[in-house]
Parts: sequence; C-alpha cells; structure tokens
Amino acid sequence: MSVIENSKLTVVGAGGVGSSVAYAALIRGSARHVALYDIATEKVEAEVLDLAHGTQFTGTSDIIGGSDVSVAEGSHVVVITAGAKQRPGQTRIELAGTNANILKSMLPQLLEVAPNAIYVIVTNPCDVLTVLAQEATGLPPERIFASGTVLDTSRLRWLLGRRAGVSTSSVHAYIVGEHGDTEFPLWSKTTIGTVPILDWQPAEGDPMTVDELDQIAVDVRDAAYKVIQGKGATNYAIGLSSARIVEAILHDEHAVMPVSTVLDDFHGVSGVALSVPSIVSASGAVAIRETQFSASELGLFRRSADALREVADSLRG
Ligand code: LAC
Repeated sequence: MSVIENSKLTVVGAGGVGSSVAYAALIRGSARHVALYDIATEKVEAEVLDLAHGTQFTGTSDIIGGSDVSVAEGSHVVVITAGAKQRPGQTRIELAGTNANILKSMLPQLLEVAPNAIYVIVTNPCDVLTVLAQEATGLPPERIFASGTVLDTSRLRWLLGRRAGVSTSSVHAYIVGEHGDTEFPLWSKTTIGTVPILDWQPAEGDPMTVDELDQIAVDVRDAAYKVIQGKGATNYAIGLSSARIVEAILHDEHAVMPVSTVLDDFHGVSGVALSVPSIVSASGAVAIRETQFSASELGLFRRSADALREVADSLRG
C-alpha cells in the first residue's frame, strides 16, 4: 500500500481493539501518521512505545499518541474504539448505555481538534452509536459511519472460501443489517466468481446445501461470542477491518464495503444505521441505493432496523 503523504489517522481508545487498529494500520501503511489517543495516560503511552519500537519494520508510517486530545490534531480519519467491551455471553446491545455516554463525552473535544475528519465508529453497538453520534454532532451522515458488517463479511467470505476451495477474494458475499444478532447474509447476491453459491461445484466434496449455508450464517453471527469465550475479546480481525476502511477513505478508493450509515429511505428504511454495500471514499460512506434484496431478505432487513430503532429510542429518553 503506498502511503498517502501527510495522511493522518487517529485511533481513539488504546484497548485491545484500538491498539490492534493502530498496529494493523502501521503494518499495512494505511496512513502516514497514526495517533493513538486514550484518557488512560500510562496505558496509551505504553501502547505507543510498544508500537513505535517496531516501526523499523513497518515502512514509512509513524506512531504518536497520548492522553491529551491534541494528539488528534488535524486527523483526516478518526476511528473510535473507546468503550466497554463485551463480556462472555454479553450482547453488543447491552453495552449501549455505557458506551453512548463515553462517546457523547469524547465527540465535542475530537471535533474541535479534527473538525474535517471522517469519523468511523467501531465501539459497540456501533450501529446504534452511529445514529446517536450523527445526531449529537450534526455531521453529514456520510462523514460519520460505523465499521458495521465489514468484519462479519470477512468472516463469511473466509468460511465460504474454505468450503468452496477458492480464495477469499473470489467469494462475492455480504453480511448486511446490524453488526450483531440480527445480521444476515445477502444469499440472493452471493457468488463464487460469477457462479451463484448453490451452483458452485467444489473441487472436492458436494455442492453446498441451503442447510449448510444457514449454519454458516449462524457461525458468522456468533463468531465474536466464540472468540470472546476463548480469549476474552476480539481484536485482530476488527483491527484489520478498520485499517482497510481507513485506506478506502485516505486513498479515495470509491470501494464497495458493507459499512453502516444512517439510512434515508433505503428500501423504505430511514433514521437507523445499518450495513449495506456502500461506496467508501475520501468523502466518507454512501449506501448504494440500487442494492436489491429478495422479499425474505427485505423482511430480515426491516427486522434489523426495528430492533435497532427501539434501542436508539430508549437511549434518547
Ligand atoms: C466483533 C466485534 C468487533 O464482531 O463486535 O468481533
């Protein structure tokens, strides 16, 4: 990845996720300058030191950071990971109240030092927090969005690629909706190369069945719970997913990615943030309105929207 000269990424939150975003961005060369910000001084300074000690091996990107919000000065992209993390068995939605307050306390200071940045919310529940953050900041919806189901989509493509015997990059599949328990695959648009998923003939074994695809959808939806149960948190894959989103912004790629933006009459859904295939560029993220859903998929999408609208309404109270 060629580094965009003077591009600056700030990662807010030096916990497992934020440090992994910074680490992935350094290794991938996502930005020329990476800043890590957290109110926990000792923690963030240690993370920055540990990352800096390896920069001989990471190309031209550099790392700074600290507990003064001024480290975010002039950022082009701000990735927000600060907040409580899921405990084993806890849903992302259960974090909403605590993390909404943390976000509301941080955003005014960040906007003061980085008024022109694109804001990417990773903190969970990222979809609900995006609606509240967009309302609180008044930023245009395309400039404040969530990582959404980019990670879930990567999980889906990995499972399908492994089963089909092809490279993940040849699996064209999306998880849409909530980054959470109501997410679902757009099976009606899923292909391996140009071949519809159920028509694919793996080099070894039988073609996939509907039941098998249903199980894969469950495995993707529950993936984070499994990782959290085993190691206490997820961090590497969300770190890489976030760095990839940052690159699409800083390189003005106009890349199609399933990030979560506040929707406006998307198949009749408005006022909630949900992941659908979107164009990600230097201007931020815009949902692709022409994305077609089957009738059953539209029902699932509206179920996802209703679930999240209810949570957001409860937090506005
Ligand atoms: C996960 C967290 C980032 O899905 O929500 O791993």
